[in-house]
Amino acid sequence: RAEVVINGSSSPAVVDRSNESIKHNIQPASSKWRHNQTLSLRIRKQILKFLDAEKDISVLKGTLKPGDIIHYIFDRDSTMNVSQNLYELLPRTSPLKNKHFRTCAIVGNSGVLLNSGCGQEIDTHSFVIRCNLAPVQEYARDVGLKTDLVTMNPSVIQRAFEDLVNATWREKLLQRLHSLNGSILWIPAFMARGGKERVEWVNELILKHHVNVRTAYPSLRLLHAVRGYWLTNKVHIKRPTTGLLMYTLATRFCNQIYLYGFWPFPLDQNQNPVKYHYYDSLKYGYTSQASPHTMPLEFKALKNLHEQGALKLTVGRCD
Ligand code: CTP
Repeated sequence: RAEVVINGSSSPAVVDRSNESIKHNIQPASSKWRHNQTLSLRIRKQILKFLDAEKDISVLKGTLKPGDIIHYIFDRDSTMNVSQNLYELLPRTSPLKNKHFRTCAIVGNSGVLLNSGCGQEIDTHSFVIRCNLAPVQEYARDVGLKTDLVTMNPSVIQRAFEDLVNATWREKLLQRLHSLNGSILWIPAFMARGGKERVEWVNELILKHHVNVRTAYPSLRLLHAVRGYWLTNKVHIKRPTTGLLMYTLATRFCNQIYLYGFWPFPLDQNQNPVKYHYYDSLKYGYTSQASPHTMPLEFKALKNLHEQGALKLTVGRCD
């Protein structure tokens, strides 16, 4: 039986802070990649020892009531009260209950997607996951349009919607939310106290305008459980990125997992510059000590899984 080698070496992984993207060339070539069903099932089983995506994807209505006090995961000394709005938006049953998909796409936000022509391919997958409300309409040729689940870190409200300072920005966010049209909106509401008001603003907007989204708020244990799984596999991440969280959750309900837009390097495989995000001018921050993430290290782990056929990474053109 094939052994799962996630870290790719027997020694503890170290943070790769280099820009030498050439080292990250994806092998085997896309055309030769074969899905390894046995390995995927084994990974699903291992991850299930740490978390269950069906449960951990969201806190349910039955488990909280308005006024309950929650300690933020990263700011243990700070608390929040479960508001009436948050309570209303908690799902009654898991949005992933009994869900199984043949293929899933997880779309990261790297600029490597620009000119990839991957939109059509992404849209053919049975379930498409996107991160941080990234825009799709203007980039459809490269990133596709289909969205079954989209994440929204509260910081996105500041970064992409100017903290809703005026009616124009509120309208922009509202339009983006309306465009989700029934998909799952996944909001990590209990992570850090900085997100408190932003989560409340979004909840209020959804309720006030009867926005057709299925809200989900990850469980309090999810982050530590995901980190625990990867640490056990010698991937020494500080705090898992949204992309890695999504892959870890997707192993539960997706048979085959395809990753696009995962490329935390400023140069592509041909040494051409790559934007950090395909849609804005945010600069690379992951190499600073202050960054909570260790993206290149995560990438190395994902690349190893790609080479073993447990997932497929696309980092170039789709044709
Ligand atoms: N990503 C990547 N390479 C990039 C940018 C993003 O691999 N150059 C992946 C990461 O897994 C990231 C996901 O795409 O979590 C979504 O990107 P982004 O919205 O930028 O996430 P961040 O806000 O940077 O990180 P997080 O939400 O996890 O804090």
